[in-house]
Amino acid sequence: MAKKPILFSGLQPTGDLHIGNYLGAVKNWVQLQNSGKYQMFIFIADLHALTGNQSGDDLRKNIMGVATELLAAGIDPKKTTLFVQSHVSGHADLAWVFNCVTPMSELERMTQYKDKSARQAKNVNVGLFDYPVLQVADILLYHGEVVPVGEDQVQHVELTRDCVRWFNKKYGEYFSAPKPLLTEIPRVMSLVEPTSKMSKSHGEKAYIALADEPLVIEKKVMKAVTASEGGAKSPGAQNLLELFRHFGNVKQYQEYVKAEKDGSIRYGDLKKDLSKAIAEEFKDFRLKRKEYLGSHGVVADILIDGAHRAQKVADKTMKEVRRRVGLR
Ligand code: AMP
Ligand code: TRP
Repeated sequence: MAKKPILFSGLQPTGDLHIGNYLGAVKNWVQLQNSGKYQMFIFIADLHALTGNQSGDDLRKNIMGVATELLAAGIDPKKTTLFVQSHVSGHADLAWVFNCVTPMSELERMTQYKDKSARQAKNVNVGLFDYPVLQVADILLYHGEVVPVGEDQVQHVELTRDCVRWFNKKYGEYFSAPKPLLTEIPRVMSLVEPTSKMSKSHGEKAYIALADEPLVIEKKVMKAVTASEGGAKSPGAQNLLELFRHFGNVKQYQEYVKAEKDGSIRYGDLKKDLSKAIAEEFKDFRLKRKEYLGSHGVVADILIDGAHRAQKVADKTMKEVRRRVGLR
């Protein structure tokens, strides 16, 4: 039987998962996992999170929090190697090797770096600049072939493809270029600033966490911005409709689209129905999350087991890389 392609992806432990992460990434991971077509690696990028502003205590809490939520969302440790980046040695080592084949000018172009340095202007650290190279190392340490991510990460996967070329040219053919895999809805917009993507950095009201209780969901959705400027199509309303397409029922969705076109839409109704649909979608998630929160040891054991499995692959890659670059 042909070997299954290696699927590699992950996210940063920056807080609760929100419906942007879910529709842009996590939901897709669970479906791809359950298709049985891939060798699955999903990881929690804690070294990446050091580039932000979190305190040590917050980071520690968020690593376990995200692991718990990934499990509650359907990542199955029997089907997926789920691990924490810093539990496996090799990520930073391999990033250093790629640092030394990557031109500075390529990193200066990275959109996420530009966005993030504007947002955390007081903390534009070297890690933030170098972060895409660490991401390259993450993927290639496991010879990832398919990388399912949201649109904002595609540029980093493209950089990975370039790094493969630069490395192979200097040290001989070894790595293969991975491909990004986008979901149907690669960009969920913020509820308060619907022209930018939903993200935790715009405050609590901007996003819906998967763990939000139904009343909280309703409160946030009811306050979502739907106003438009200068008669243009309202980006906030488009976002809500798009969310309804994913969470609501098809017939109702078609009615809302029609009403939006002929101008008879009542956003209050759409918001109520959308809130209900989101709350319903994550009912099972909320229950499972509470169960896992009550059994901390189970989550820790899953992560330890994942790290052991990942370390075996990482060691093999690093051994070969060291040999090729002349470090032994
Ligand atoms: P982050 O929380 O930024 O580490 O993102 C984790 C994953 O979720 C990445 O694959 C992102 O592309 C995806 N993601 C984050 N925010 C959004 C969003 N608003 N819409 C779609 N995908 C997103
Ligand atoms: N940069 C990604 C994000 O912010 C997280 C990430 C780090 C990642 N390394 C990765 C995603 C490797 C896919 C593959 O969402």
